[in-house]
Amino acid sequence: MDQPPLNPLVVLGATGSIGRQTLDVARSLGIEVAALAARRGSDELLALAKEFSGATVGMTAPTESERATFTNLFGSRVRFGPELLPELAATSGATVLNGVVGAAGLEASVAALEAGNRLALANKESLVAGGPVVEKARVRGGGELIPVDSEHSALLQCLAGEEAGAVRRLILTASGGPFRGSTADELAAVTIEQALDHPTWSMGPRITIDSATLMNKAFEVIETHFLFGVDFDQIEVVIHPQSIVHSAVEFVDGSIKAQLGEPDMRLPIQFALTYPARQPSSLTPFSLAGSSLTFEEPDWESFPLLGLGYEAGRRGGSGPAVLNAADEIAVQAFLDGRIGFAVIAKVVADTLEKVSFRDLDSVADVKAVDAEARAVASQLVAPS
Ligand SMILES: NC(=O)c1ccc[n+]([C@@H]2O[C@H](COP(=O)([O-])OP(=O)(O)OC[C@H]3O[C@@H](n4cnc5c(N)ncnc54)[C@H](OP(=O)(O)O)[C@@H]3O)[C@@H](O)[C@H]2O)c1
Repeated sequence: MDQPPLNPLVVLGATGSIGRQTLDVARSLGIEVAALAARRGSDELLALAKEFSGATVGMTAPTESERATFTNLFGSRVRFGPELLPELAATSGATVLNGVVGAAGLEASVAALEAGNRLALANKESLVAGGPVVEKARVRGGGELIPVDSEHSALLQCLAGEEAGAVRRLILTASGGPFRGSTADELAAVTIEQALDHPTWSMGPRITIDSATLMNKAFEVIETHFLFGVDFDQIEVVIHPQSIVHSAVEFVDGSIKAQLGEPDMRLPIQFALTYPARQPSSLTPFSLAGSSLTFEEPDWESFPLLGLGYEAGRRGGSGPAVLNAADEIAVQAFLDGRIGFAVIAKVVADTLEKVSFRDLDSVADVKAVDAEARAVASQLVAPS
């Protein structure tokens, strides 16, 4: 079947888990790559710059020697500095895949939407930390916000053709991570290696730890609120260890629609690039026959970050931004071996208590809250 050509692609976070899989999709669908960006000038970025020879290549924090290597090899195709993320995101007529990790992705999301581009959003921190600001940018610039996360992609697919008034609940599934069924005491003894060993998804380190604490699911609840304009009371989380049902929607007549597939991010990434059309892919479809799918309630007590996420989301304004910044600091401290696994939740809860609440109107407001929360959380993880 003939499809209209897809927009040229700007891939932010090209060397990460999402970025790599996006480039796989671009290769398989023959999508033009207009720009690639990462933090460092790694060997991987170098190889990509050679492969995608028409693309602008950006690095936000290269070393001096990386700068020299890239400049010598690629001359004016190369750009450096943190401001290049929003600049590349504003490329006219592009689809911007934001696969940067952390709050650094917010300005790029805002710039893409203000330029009227399609934003294929993986960087969940954009919506978690800056939901109200991203929403304003979307309205102002007329850009299109398409989620890449498998859960939100599933919701988008289930909601297609349905009226807002027909929706009763959005049901987010969660694998439960490697520590599903563990008690609070068992969680206190978890090692970095155990936490990084996700049972069903292969992802970058921060999101893997966030999946193990269920912080990631709390972020997704907040994202769902902003993406689909629903109240927190209408968003439910259910544990589904097989990660086959990516999420579901319950309608007012009691009918439930779910989206199923093997856990492979290339599927939601491709859908975000081809939406609303579908294009063939070589991914293995899920086989229903012989499969057993199970669902259970989350353990709110052993995984307190899930409840804290709802609380911060309902509070609105700066609450989710504080949650995100505190979690980023706490997860890094855990990965560095400075705090235990169970302390991550305590650092986030204490930071939420200590940083005063305010409304968020601009990227500058988000940055100010983010910086304050990071400072508070950094003190909390510092050795006394
Ligand atoms: N992985 C998944 O399956 C998955 C699923 C759903 C949502 N997400 C979300 O997608 C985002 C990316 O996750 P990931 O797992 O792909 O992370 P990752 O593997 O750690 O990759 C992060 C990418 O972002 C780049 N980067 C980091 N900081 C940057 C900065 N300040 N400026 C420019 N580039 C920067 C990194 O460049 P360097 O390599 O040079 O450091 C790398 O290319 C996160 O928000 C995550 O929550 C991921």
